[in-house]
Formats: sequence, structure tokens, C-alpha cells
Amino acid sequence: MRTNELYASAPVRATLGRALRPGGEKLTRRMLELAGPLQGALALDAGCGCGASLVLLEEHGARAVGLDLNVGFLRECRGRQLRVARADLAELPLSDGCLDLVLCECAWNLTDKERALAEFFRVLRPGGVLALADIYARGYRAGEWPVRCCFTQATDLQTVMEQVAGAGFEIDVVEDHTEFLKKTSADFVFRHGSLHGFWQAVTGEPDLAVAACEASKATRPGLFLMMAHAGGK
Ligand SMILES: C[S@@+](CC[C@H](N)C(=O)[O-])C[C@H]1O[C@@H](n2cnc3c(N)ncnc32)[C@H](O)[C@@H]1O
Repeated sequence: MRTNELYASAPVRATLGRALRPGGEKLTRRMLELAGPLQGALALDAGCGCGASLVLLEEHGARAVGLDLNVGFLRECRGRQLRVARADLAELPLSDGCLDLVLCECAWNLTDKERALAEFFRVLRPGGVLALADIYARGYRAGEWPVRCCFTQATDLQTVMEQVAGAGFEIDVVEDHTEFLKKTSADFVFRHGSLHGFWQAVTGEPDLAVAACEASKATRPGLFLMMAHAGGK
């Protein structure tokens, strides 16, 4: 990481509000609909950020807890009486098979991806649901991203599916929601005049803004939603 985290930066927060990713509440509602009845379900929001989805999980009748590393976000969550704790997704402080649902929205790409998936599998009961949304790469990316963000470790969708299946999950649904990402980019352009203007506001440095624009163009990012359940390994 050469500069601060994208999702915590002022330009991103000003545009996105509490849901720190493309798709916002709409995408979360779609995932919860696909997850099936959640009344009484024990759910984890893995990388919960400011807790936007914790509120939705509770609205759907789930008993939800959020884990994240960012102390500022956790403070915001606690201020709204949401149940959260500080933890790395690669090392969940939860016992085996204790959850019905793991929701992970635009946080997986920021973690040790293999270890996080292994942890999601470990803490879900057999048949428990993994609802994963994140960025995937439609193009080839050379070089390093100048900002830590969900694009940095993005791979093509086939690789995502292989990793999820490799961790013991059976994949039920894959949907492409790149339209949400395009809308978020348009919102950034609207506020900052251009994508370069947006990256300039985030990084504070013209050369980093150029590098971010080039990396973005080469990555050709898309947004996926994936529903899977913990099968027998
Ligand atoms: C793009 S934000 C998404 C937040 C939230 N899921 C949402 O949709 O609003 C990514 C979140 O993942 C968290 N995160 C990144 N790496 C993490 C890790 N290894 N363990 C736990 N949380 C992590 C960040 O602190 C941040 O809150």
C-alpha cells in the first residue's frame, strides 16, 4: 500500500455514505433475498465497515455480528449499538460450525484470500451460506495499485470460482453486477470532474492519480455476487 485505504478516504465516504462499496443497500438486499429466510439465523458480516449491512441483517431477523480491522469504523458501529469486534478475517475469533450465514461485501479482496475462505468454511455449519460480493478483473493488470482497494488483489471470475470451490463450498448462484460499479464510477466523475480528478482527490498526488487511472483501465474491473453453501469436503 503506497497511500491510505481507498474505502476510508474522504472522497469515497462523501459519495458512498455508509455502504463502502458499489451496489449499496440494493446489492445487499439481493444477497439476503438469495440467502433465504433469515429469521433467527446467526450471521457474520465479515469486514463490516460502518455497519450498513448489519442493520439490514437485523431487519431480516438475523442475529448479526460484524468483524473488521478498522477501529474508526468499529467505533461508528458501536455508536449505533451494533454488535462488532476487531478481528482479521484470516483468523476469526469464532468456533467451528457456529454460523448460518457469512456475508462478505468488498472485503475479501483486501484479505489473505485463501485463509479468509478457509475461515468462512470453518465457522459455517454444514449447509451454511456464504454470500460474497467483490470486484473481479476482466482485463490484465500489470504493476502495482497505488492505493489499497478492492481492485488490488482482484482476479478473473473463473479463479474466484475455483478458490471458493477449493475451500469446500458448493456454488449456487453467480451474478454479474458490474452496472453498480459503473454507476459508482459515474458518481465519482460527477463529483470530481473525471476519474483522474477522483484519484487525485484520493491520493493527493498527480503521478499516483495517473497510475491509478492506468491500473484501473488495465484491470477492467467488474462486480460479482456469489452465493455458495458449505458442502462436505
Ligand atoms: C470496501 S470496505 C467494505 C465494508 C463493508 N463490507 C461495506 O460493504 O460497507 C472493506 C472493509 O474490509 C475491512 N478489512 C480489510 N481487510 C480486512 C481484514 N483482513 N480483516 C477484517 N476486515 C478487513 C476494512 O477495514 C473495510 O471496513
